[in-house]
Amino acid sequence: MAADSFIAFVERFPEHVSEARNLGLDVKVSGVDKVVVAGIGGSAISGDLLKSYCSEKAPGLHVHVSRGYDVPAFTDNRTLVLAISYSGNTEETLSAVKSAMRKGARIVAITSGGKLMQQAEQLNRPVVAIPDGFQPRAAMPYLFLPLLNVLFNAGLIADPAQEISAAAGALKAASSAYRERARMLADKLAGKVPLIYSSEKMAGVAYRWKCEFNENSKIHAFSHVIPELNHNELVGYTRLNANYYVIFLEDDSDLRRVKERIKLTKELIGAKGVPSTQLVIKGDNVLMKLLSAVYIGDLASVYLAKLTGVDPEPVAIIEDLKKQLQRVPFV
Ligand code: F6R
Repeated sequence: MAADSFIAFVERFPEHVSEARNLGLDVKVSGVDKVVVAGIGGSAISGDLLKSYCSEKAPGLHVHVSRGYDVPAFTDNRTLVLAISYSGNTEETLSAVKSAMRKGARIVAITSGGKLMQQAEQLNRPVVAIPDGFQPRAAMPYLFLPLLNVLFNAGLIADPAQEISAAAGALKAASSAYRERARMLADKLAGKVPLIYSSEKMAGVAYRWKCEFNENSKIHAFSHVIPELNHNELVGYTRLNANYYVIFLEDDSDLRRVKERIKLTKELIGAKGVPSTQLVIKGDNVLMKLLSAVYIGDLASVYLAKLTGVDPEPVAIIEDLKKQLQRVPFV
């Protein structure tokens, strides 16, 4: 995909939400009481978003995101393991599926193909097959929305259908305003290291922004949460060692105390000469908040790439590492 086509693809995020809204509805799993999402990188981020979603919609539900070769020790036959790998060929995720099998977990694979599809079919496990040919990170709605549908079918959350459809419409309606906001942000970020701060609930979104700046804009970026950063990272502003730009993602339903901390942190770092901006995440429900905040960050990252003369799509260094690892025996 040429750079402009990739940017246009990212801009069509609301359409992807609409296209992906029914994925996973044919998967029925019962008898589960906790959830592990196994995946890496652009595939795993959907697990973080699911965690944020469930923190509001199903606060008693244990959702764990596992980014590695194993699933956690607590995994048992009442655990739903959602194995996500866009390519289906990511060794960590394939290994995590084996680990989940050994523990007797209920496994559902979400993938566009590859070995994960084969593995799940051989093991007779349900597969949510998603369209292929995209960059994993840019396929986020196709990877995330099936999680909601599978959890609904498993009786773990209420029916998300109406909120998904409403979100697709609202995102489309707000798309040009979001693009404008993202362009302004990209202008401010050229030559800077973005630091993205949010409350715990939006930590997944802040991390998504970080990863999108890494992979699309090809720069370093970091995320952290308030209040934790008030007890460590804040001190780093005493002796600045890079050209930072701070983005505060404030959820309008954040605790008043957290909002107060954001305000004070902004003032303190401003006094140290570090510029910042605040984005208040609004929406009728948590799904709309998550999707709109992800969309704006995705847009800002590709616009920043364009502004700085970088092709946002390829991630050559990741591919190179994967190729080199293939030459090393897997033991
Ligand atoms: C590439 C990207 C990466 C991949 C990761 C795992 O767009 O976002 O972070 O997601 O290398 O690969 P998959 O998603 O195919 O399992």
